[in-house]
Amino acid sequence: MPAQNLNDLLEQGVSSRYVLVRSDLNVPLDSGTVTDDGRIRASLPVLEKLATAGAKVIVMAHLGRPKGEPNPEFSLAPVATRLAELTTVAVQRATDLTGEDARSKADALADGSILLLENVRFDPRETSKDDSERAELAAELASLVGDTGVYVNDAFGAVHRKHASVFDIARHLPAYQGDLVATELQVLDQLITEPARPYVVALGGSKVSDKLAVIDNLLDKADTLLIGGGMVFTFLAAQGHQVGSSLLEEDQIDTVAEYLKRSGQGGAATIVLPTDIVMAETFGAEAGHEVRPVDGLATGTYGESAMGLDIGPDSAAHYAQTIRAAHTVFWNGPMGVFELPAFAAGTKAVAEALTAVDGLCVVGGGDSAAAVRNLGFGDNQFGHISTGGGASLEYLEGRELPGVQALQN
Ligand code: 3PG
Repeated sequence: MPAQNLNDLLEQGVSSRYVLVRSDLNVPLDSGTVTDDGRIRASLPVLEKLATAGAKVIVMAHLGRPKGEPNPEFSLAPVATRLAELTTVAVQRATDLTGEDARSKADALADGSILLLENVRFDPRETSKDDSERAELAAELASLVGDTGVYVNDAFGAVHRKHASVFDIARHLPAYQGDLVATELQVLDQLITEPARPYVVALGGSKVSDKLAVIDNLLDKADTLLIGGGMVFTFLAAQGHQVGSSLLEEDQIDTVAEYLKRSGQGGAATIVLPTDIVMAETFGAEAGHEVRPVDGLATGTYGESAMGLDIGPDSAAHYAQTIRAAHTVFWNGPMGVFELPAFAAGTKAVAEALTAVDGLCVVGGGDSAAAVRNLGFGDNQFGHISTGGGASLEYLEGRELPGVQALQN
């Protein structure tokens, strides 16, 4: 059965009713300050729609990966502060999840206002592998909203998690899909259902093992796969290149070699690897560095201890040109260590090219979204910036997402 959506709920009327919303407010922090509020901004429209319609909105969210116990480092307090700055709706914060503070504040919550509960992952039952433990927490959360309460899942970035607040809760309350989840799914769907061609996928990031399933699946769908980031070195090693002390997942070399064999064969996408790399003496902002061709990575100034921290200028130019000529582009993962200016050029070139695409261009969550904002690009320069890194990859891998599935039953 298709999921019920937010409009279905608003049509029923939510005035004076409790709505328990799961949002993804997992944002980067620096000394207690939110450094990229993209996920908070993306979550606001649904919260505001509900509050404006008179609902008592209770928000569940996680921050980071605390180990199932309260830890001030992962408190949602800075998120509550930022949320309150971004909206005119009244925002309160509970200092616990289903304890005394959450209950008393939920009971007294005014129509048209928001209560943000403390980090749902402070409770070990949220992420438990034991179905009955998660069900117990889900029942406790559901008890916060009374007989007429409902649940809305708007946490696209967490829909791939089989967690109590994402999956099990939908068995305890009438459940609806939030607009953010609906929009994300609709955009990602265009990447797998008849994408306009040429269809180019740029994949970066440090670990190739995180990307194997998506490479496997997109090899059959895209026209070109551009590879960057730390994962490049496993591909280059599979081609027999020496990679110095660059990141390398030796146990994945055989798998990657298989992908290279499939490249361009029988309708499969062509895998494109960099032809030059910025090799550094060590990992650091001030590290000496030089551009080396891929067949001489470990024979330059820094010898075998050199490590690759970005794709080189020739590769960046070629990737950018390939992207600009595409009509559908999906990008996930930086091309280099973009946080350090000396190694940001590859990521910047790819991001810039994305802004010039005539067609659908999707930036896939997490690091890539943070990268484009940190490099000074505006969200509106891209077709769609997904709020879910892991979630969008799992969707493109063709896997079932527990948080989506729970709303369809
Ligand atoms: C994310 O950051 O991708 C989401 O918030 C999910 O977080 P998680 O990977 O810790 O489950």
